[in-house]
Amino acid sequence: MKEKIIVAMDFPTGREALALAEKLRGLVGVFKIGLELFISEGSSLVRAFRSEGHEVFLDLKLHDIPNTVARSVEAALALDVRMLTLHTSGGGAMMVAAAKARQAAQARTILLGVTVLTSLDDGDLEKIGLRPPVSEQVGRLAELAAESGLDGLVCSPHEAGLLKKKFAGSPLVLVTPGIRPPGATVGDQKRTMTPQEAFSAGADYLVVGRPITAAPDPMEAAKSFWNLG
Ligand code: C5P
Repeated sequence: MKEKIIVAMDFPTGREALALAEKLRGLVGVFKIGLELFISEGSSLVRAFRSEGHEVFLDLKLHDIPNTVARSVEAALALDVRMLTLHTSGGGAMMVAAAKARQAAQARTILLGVTVLTSLDDGDLEKIGLRPPVSEQVGRLAELAAESGLDGLVCSPHEAGLLKKKFAGSPLVLVTPGIRPPGATVGDQKRTMTPQEAFSAGADYLVVGRPITAAPDPMEAAKSFWNLG
């Protein structure tokens, strides 16, 4: 169960992130390093996590021409990260190039596609020239991601059920943020689910940030996620 918990390391410094990771050693599966931390600390922080034996989810949401993305994927694979994200809206050729780069490197990295950011609604899609509703756009991009050889998708727990049904029998993994234990502070998340709800909707991994990182006792908070799947 604990392998299924990914902790979002949303800290301004690598020092804070490494300190929390040390406390959480053995209590969770993977640590997510996102853009803020990566831009401020760079790949040396990822190396520091790896040399401490921590698994890393590098959440860079790559989106560029196929050649650039393939080379960036190669660079990330060299860091031996467990998971890496790219935007499915970069298109089929971009995702195929990424999947080929991973295959050529025979890397264990799971390539995850981001479909529609959960900060966008139907009106936002129209303004950027895309066809609403969001749920259909998510479905279209998810299909393209699966055809292109990605290993999984990052999605809202509210989309997990739909996607699980759509890809029934496929090994595609679903990773869902927006998780709050029953009764917890929601913060800026709009549509949350409890861990139990997310797993029963079909999530394979949960991304949890503040319910663990901002808890008075992060170790106890992490343990409270065990036995919930
Ligand atoms: O603190 P909290 O549990 O809300 O953190 C969730 C993490 O998942 C953050 O790193 C956030 O950026 C990320 N995320 C999200 N919703 C998405 C995609 C990523 O909350 N749709």
